[in-house]
Order: sequence, then C-alpha cells, then structure tokens
Amino acid sequence: MRRRSLLLLPLLTACGAAPSRTAVPNSLRIPPILEPSTDGEFVLTMQAGRTEFQPGRPTPTWGINGSYLGPTIRVSRGDRVRMRVVNRLAETSTLHWHGIRLPARMDGGPHQMIEPGATWTPEWTVDQPAMTGWYHPHLHEHTAMHVYRGLAGLIVVDDANRTGLPGEYGVDDVPLILQDKKFEDGGQLEEGGVDRGTWGVLGEDALVNGTLNARFAVTTEAVRFRILNASNARVYRAGFTDGRRFHVVATDAGLLRQPAEVDRVKLSPGERAEIVVRFAPGEQVVLNRIGETARAAGDPEEDDFDLMTFVADPRLEPSPPMPAALGGPPAVPPPPGARVRTFRLSGSEINDRDMDMTRIDEVVPAGAHEIWEIVNESYAHNFHIHEVEFRILELNGAPPPAWQQGPKDTVFLPKGAKARLSVRFNTHVDPVAPYMYHCHILRHEDKGMMGQFVVVTPGTEDRVARTIEPGH
Ligand code: C2O
Ligand code: CU
Ligand code: CU
Repeated sequence: MRRRSLLLLPLLTACGAAPSRTAVPNSLRIPPILEPSTDGEFVLTMQAGRTEFQPGRPTPTWGINGSYLGPTIRVSRGDRVRMRVVNRLAETSTLHWHGIRLPARMDGGPHQMIEPGATWTPEWTVDQPAMTGWYHPHLHEHTAMHVYRGLAGLIVVDDANRTGLPGEYGVDDVPLILQDKKFEDGGQLEEGGVDRGTWGVLGEDALVNGTLNARFAVTTEAVRFRILNASNARVYRAGFTDGRRFHVVATDAGLLRQPAEVDRVKLSPGERAEIVVRFAPGEQVVLNRIGETARAAGDPEEDDFDLMTFVADPRLEPSPPMPAALGGPPAVPPPPGARVRTFRLSGSEINDRDMDMTRIDEVVPAGAHEIWEIVNESYAHNFHIHEVEFRILELNGAPPPAWQQGPKDTVFLPKGAKARLSVRFNTHVDPVAPYMYHCHILRHEDKGMMGQFVVVTPGTEDRVARTIEPGH
C-alpha cells in the first residue's frame, strides 16, 4: 500500500476521482513469449480491446495480440527473423524495433506506414550482441497516443555468451515495463492531455507490464529485471524504498563489461537497464520512483510514487553468485579525427528545424564511427538514434557513472546538459530510406523533434539526394 495514497484517499473519494488508488495488489503480468507461426513468422496483430486494470472496470485500450501491450519476442544472434504485422486498428500506424540493428526499410519508422487492414512483413538477420529492445508505433505526429493506448512490447536478443546471470523468463529473469497513466472516473485512460502542453500526459498511477498496483512473488535469492521505460514523458529514478543496493548488468544495447553497483537507476523514455537484485526470505520491498520528472526539467520533484511491490517466499531457491565479468562488448574509442556532428536541442526543435519527412538531414558513410555532440539549450529532453550502438563519452564534460558506460541507444539530457557520444553506424546502405534520431519524450517527437539520416556507400555522400518521397 502506498503511503501517499492513504493520505490522499479521503480527499479523492470525496470528489469521486481516482478509483485506482483504493486498489488491492494485482499479480504482475508477465508478457507471454511469442511462438513463431508454422511458417516461422512472428505474427503481431495491432488491435483495440478492453483491459481490466481495476477489477470490474474495463478500460478501452490498444494492444498487440491482446488488449494491452504485446508479447515478448525472443530471437538469437544469427537468426533470420520474419515479422507479420497486421493492423486491425481503425487508424494507420507503424511498428518500430527500437534498438534493433536492421536495414532502414525494415525499421518501422514513420515511412513504413501500415494502413488499417493492411499487413507489413519486414525481415532481417539478427546481428548484434544480447540486449533488451522493444517495439512500438512510430507514426509521425501520432506516436504518443498510440503508445499511450498500449502499443509496446519487448524484443529480447540472445547470443552465445553464457553470462551466468539468472535467466528463467518470468521466474528470475523478469521484464518490468514502466508506464505512468491517468485514469478518468469511469476507468478510461485520460487521453485529453496526451497531445497537449510541454510534456503531454504525466500520470501518477504506475503500470508495470500493464499491471496496476503490481505485486511479484519472488522465489529465488536473486532476480534479474529487464526494466524498460515505456512512458510518454516520465523519467524514473527507480530504486527500492529500503535503499538496498543492486547491480546493473546491462544498458540499452547490451551487457556491461562488469556489474556496477547502485541504489537507483535513472531511465528516461525509451531507455532500458537490466539489474540483478537480491532478496531475503519472507521480506517485502517496494520499487518506487523519486523526483526528477521531465516536468521539473531534471530537478527533484514532489510527485514520487510507488511502482510495485515484491514479496519474497519464506524459502528461496539458491541463485548463482554475481559473475565478476559479464562478457559485454568492449567500448571502442572513436578514431583520431572522427567526424563530429552537433545537434542543438531547443524547445521542440533540433538544430532549429522541425521534422520534415521529405528532408534528409544527415548523410553518414556506412560503417562510420563518429562523435555526436548533443547540446540541450532548453528543458529536459533525451536523444535516441535508430540502428546504432553508442557510448556516452561525456555528460557535462565528465565521464558518466560506471553503470551508464554500457552500450546505449538513448541518452537523457536534463535541462542545459551536454552529451558527447561515440556512435558506431552499420553497413546497411540505402541512400533513399532514412533512419531517425529524435527526442523520445513522445510529445516532443510528435511536435517534430526528430531528424532523418541515411547510411550510404562511403565516397557517395555528396551525390545523395537530400529530398525524398515519404513512404519507403
Ligand atoms: Cu523508440 Cu524512434 O524510437
Ligand atoms: Cu528506435
Ligand atoms: Cu524532448
């Protein structure tokens, strides 16, 4: 039970609002692992439905193969993967594979639109180290609403590296998809704020894997959690109310070299962290978020709230000790003379421009290793680059804390912050189909805080058309 909820309860009941605050714990939903069809395809159907976040109060939502969120897709390095994405919604959407390295036409960005009733069948060969990625719509100007209604899911990449980390899905390897919501009196999601204001919607009811007031029964001494911030704007400084320390073992794009001990991890929208937490038999502990919302532009803020509760069995199965080395990919320093590109974030523009689907903003030679400098001249933003792995070289002039030195694809920039990134590009050459870079605060992305880059054969940069037709 949440301490603040108790205080607010009489007040809120009196004005008839926020029924969710009275709710009893619900056991944490674990998104099912999606089995491929007999044709070897992963079938993902985007559909409308109803979800009982609160018993007896169905909420209209969207989901993938279900009413809210989608299944977990699990693939291995070297696999040829084929998706069959079916749009059963009444609106056009797209499905983007965030963190997955693939050709731009398979990326599911704003250009790969799926009309109502249509099917999209991207395929690619998995060629990246183990990581936790995710999928979500990316329709230009409508991503915030589509994600808010429930379209998102995990895509987990495995590789041959045996880490010795807990790995039984749903038991001691558990996804935690964090989202904040606002519910209306009737139980509907409040959608009015999603496309308004500086941040869009900022709720105080936490869903974890689509579960309100989630409770997870811990059965092992150690549990690995794959945490994804799938919120529209919230930044989570997540940790346990008893202040216990835990280990970060992976960042967005893969494992660290060695575990990093912390008591909080800060994740902005789109970011992931894998952590390993130890539990004592019979104990109960709460995961919460404190301070530092996007609204406060990186400053501490009052609306701390609880995310979920863990209840450990009186007897726990033994877990392996924390490995000293995790086998994550080493950081490769940028070569001397690496090209530097600068991106200034101001208001909801990047380098004083709004997104234009017909404009190519950057042309990158295949296989390039560059330095991207992100300079935030305004309130909190973050910066996500499609189809790359980057490292944070510097945050405000200093190296980031150890746990943030792993492979990344999204970086948080509090008000006025500056980041220097070492970015390694792929070799999927396509001079016409672009990848995106953008702020992952979805209201900002929808307002146009996004740009496009193409990856081309080295030496052809000057010959590439800077204007394209939308819809590749
Ligand atoms: Cu999570 Cu451009 O996306
Ligand atoms: Cu992405
Ligand atoms: Cu932003």
